[in-house]
Amino acid sequence: MLRKTCRVCAKALSPFMSFGKMPLANAFTKPEHLKDEYFFELAPGFCTSCFTFQLMEQPDPSHMFHDHYAFFSGTSQHMARHFEAMANDLRTFLTDQQDPLVVELGSNDGIMLQHFARLGVRHVGVEPSENVVQVARDKGIQTVCAFFNPQTAEDIRKQHGPAQVISAANVMCHIPNMQGVAKAVDHLLAKEGVFVFEDPYLGSMIEKTSYDQLYDAHVYIFSVHAVHHIFASVGLTLFHVEPQPTHGGSMRYYLCRTGQHPRRETVDHYLHREKEQGLTSLATFRQFRQACEQNRADFRAMLQAFQSQGKRVVGYAAAAKSTTVLNYCDIGPDLIEYIADTTPIKQGTVTPGMHIPVRSFEGFYDNPPDVAVLFAWNHAKEIFAKEKHFLERGGQWLLFRPHVHKLTA
Ligand code: TMP
Ligand code: ZN
Repeated sequence: MLRKTCRVCAKALSPFMSFGKMPLANAFTKPEHLKDEYFFELAPGFCTSCFTFQLMEQPDPSHMFHDHYAFFSGTSQHMARHFEAMANDLRTFLTDQQDPLVVELGSNDGIMLQHFARLGVRHVGVEPSENVVQVARDKGIQTVCAFFNPQTAEDIRKQHGPAQVISAANVMCHIPNMQGVAKAVDHLLAKEGVFVFEDPYLGSMIEKTSYDQLYDAHVYIFSVHAVHHIFASVGLTLFHVEPQPTHGGSMRYYLCRTGQHPRRETVDHYLHREKEQGLTSLATFRQFRQACEQNRADFRAMLQAFQSQGKRVVGYAAAAKSTTVLNYCDIGPDLIEYIADTTPIKQGTVTPGMHIPVRSFEGFYDNPPDVAVLFAWNHAKEIFAKEKHFLERGGQWLLFRPHVHKLTA
């Protein structure tokens, strides 16, 4: 059922498109376990009252974050460096603090918190996926296996006291109940503390037509306008924002209790920019729909052209995002032979919905294809740097962001 009202402010949501029935983005499954795949309708809506872009239907979180959760942050070196830099930025808020506490929501395998653990800074990670928690604990990172809500916040505060920093990366956009999180942050945050989170940015998604940011787990794609509205209601003020290159364009939001930190000019700069880009207007999202449809037509046409030329086409990296692209564009094993991916638990599975086999990179190197479709386009720089041979040996890349195009040597 598509919801009709905004999760944040309860006003009417404006629909503008549907991507059709979608499986869960991370439901990579062994072919022998394929029966009863779960589907939901992937349809975003926009709230013209609080400017929050959100999905109109979302599967229960228990379907999504569980023991087989396929995503480990620690797999990309680029992300590892990003989180080290984030830890350094967060540390600037800890100077002058006596024995501070850092809490990270959705701490995954501890890729960010490990930098605090190493320095002996008190820290708690909150992470709902049991298998990922185990990896973090094995690295010596104190981690609670739970969803972050007012109860979890209270338990942490009772045991460890208030937090000087609460951070979250690529997590807030997964949590439908924003009021619950805002309340929980309010419980746990020290008076002078900062709440810092980053997520894929609506402005980048619109600019790049990167609709593959939309999948089950990404219930929100935030903008500065939306974050400003969401947290103002619990007395948390946005005092700084900072764009990030991750996930094809993200934004980091810095919040504090009203009056605790001076407001920097970045906030007004981006509020102004978003108005100019049309991120507060439904007309922009109607144009986005047209851009998605064009992208789908171009992508299919290009793959069909390769097929008629007898070229071997494989996918590079079975990112969660690829599920939206493959299902929306109706691309199966007839057009893409397999997808190579480094994640061992994805190898030997098929992709959700379209059932393209996922394999290791062995075949990709031993018997290179003519064309590689880059699904992890957000890691393009890192991937092109390590795959120079592919182009040198006559291979070509097929990219579909910000538009469909080929890349040859
Ligand atoms: P994501 O971080 O955009 O979700 O994509 C991660 C997926 O991409 C994960 O399954 C691992 C895969 N991957 C590769 O196979 N090779 C690479 O070089 C990179 C960076 C990712
Ligand atoms: Zn709203």
